[in-house]
Amino acid sequence: MKNRILTGIKPTGYAHIGNYLGAIKPAIELSNNEDFDCFYFIADYHALTTLSNRQEMIEYTYNIACTWLACGLDPNKVIFYKQSDIPEDFELNWILCNVTPKGLMNRAHAYKAFTERNEKEGLDKDNGVNMGLYNYPILMASDIILFGANYVPVGLDQKQHIEIARDIVNYFNNKYGNVFILPKEYIQEDTCTLVGLDGRKMSKSYGNTIQLFSTEDQLRKTINKIVTDSKMPGEPKNLDCTINKIYKLFATTEQSKDFDKKLLNGLSWGEAKKELFEVMNEYIKPMREKFNYYQNHKEEVDKILAEGAEKARKVAKEYLQKTRHAIGADL
Ligand code: ADP
Ligand code: TRP
Repeated sequence: MKNRILTGIKPTGYAHIGNYLGAIKPAIELSNNEDFDCFYFIADYHALTTLSNRQEMIEYTYNIACTWLACGLDPNKVIFYKQSDIPEDFELNWILCNVTPKGLMNRAHAYKAFTERNEKEGLDKDNGVNMGLYNYPILMASDIILFGANYVPVGLDQKQHIEIARDIVNYFNNKYGNVFILPKEYIQEDTCTLVGLDGRKMSKSYGNTIQLFSTEDQLRKTINKIVTDSKMPGEPKNLDCTINKIYKLFATTEQSKDFDKKLLNGLSWGEAKKELFEVMNEYIKPMREKFNYYQNHKEEVDKILAEGAEKARKVAKEYLQKTRHAIGADL
């Protein structure tokens, strides 16, 4: 049997170039390899820990769906769906809750960070924590286990969640026999953590992103916001700067070498930003056209997601049936 690859992205904002280079592009490359069966989905129920607005949920869900399609996801090669279309996921989630020790959730990074912040501010430890945030890792384990995934491509920040999923598989299998497959994280060591406008990790939560698909004009304006040092035109620039780091990810080797030379020779920051815009825009343009096409043909996106959900549910039902059998709920 082929190895099964599964990953999800939460629709909590507009996709940015960090999401593209760190998650979407490598996942699409994997889907072009015949040795793998790929399941990629939009984790809309996970986004509920951040979003509580219907319009935002709809807008971001389409944004992420159109982004995957524009970046080259082929629905004939990948089972592509929306988490909320798979009711089996939430049934399995309940079963998994009953083999998961509460202490394991207490140690999850996102929950721990939240409670530590509360304690520092003199508030009740669980102030503002709802059960969605607390149980987040169990739903993620369910997403993975329901399809018998072998590998889960994620960024480093998600490593603990995959470890928790493995723990949950072991708890279940120890009680009920060898029912679930043990998943493994797939972290590309060479995938950089892309820096944002302010030099910190690019992230929706820092508000320092460069949106992957905006208009040319917006892209130019965002690039102009990249923070630089105060070196004057004519002064050599440090090659380790944000502009150069981003430039390298979109340019050919030749262009990169040339840009290094120009920076060392004192290219002004204004000119450097113009060149960065040119090289990024050139790269993104064909994808942007596809993105705009899908945004204007949402009925096609709906159809792709509905067909994906149908295919995904076939597999999900099989795994859920095995689970029901194991626990004695299949009379
Ligand atoms: P954000 O931090 O913007 O909310 P998410 O947590 O939704 O991003 O991440 C979705 C995917 O994109 C994950 O696989 C994550 O590892 C990847 N990713 C996010 N930010 C970056 C970045 N700056 N560089 C590389 N990959 C990133
Ligand atoms: N928690 C992941 C993130 O924040 C998104 C996600 C939800 C996911 N379910 C998943 C990733 C299952 C991989 C597998 O990025």
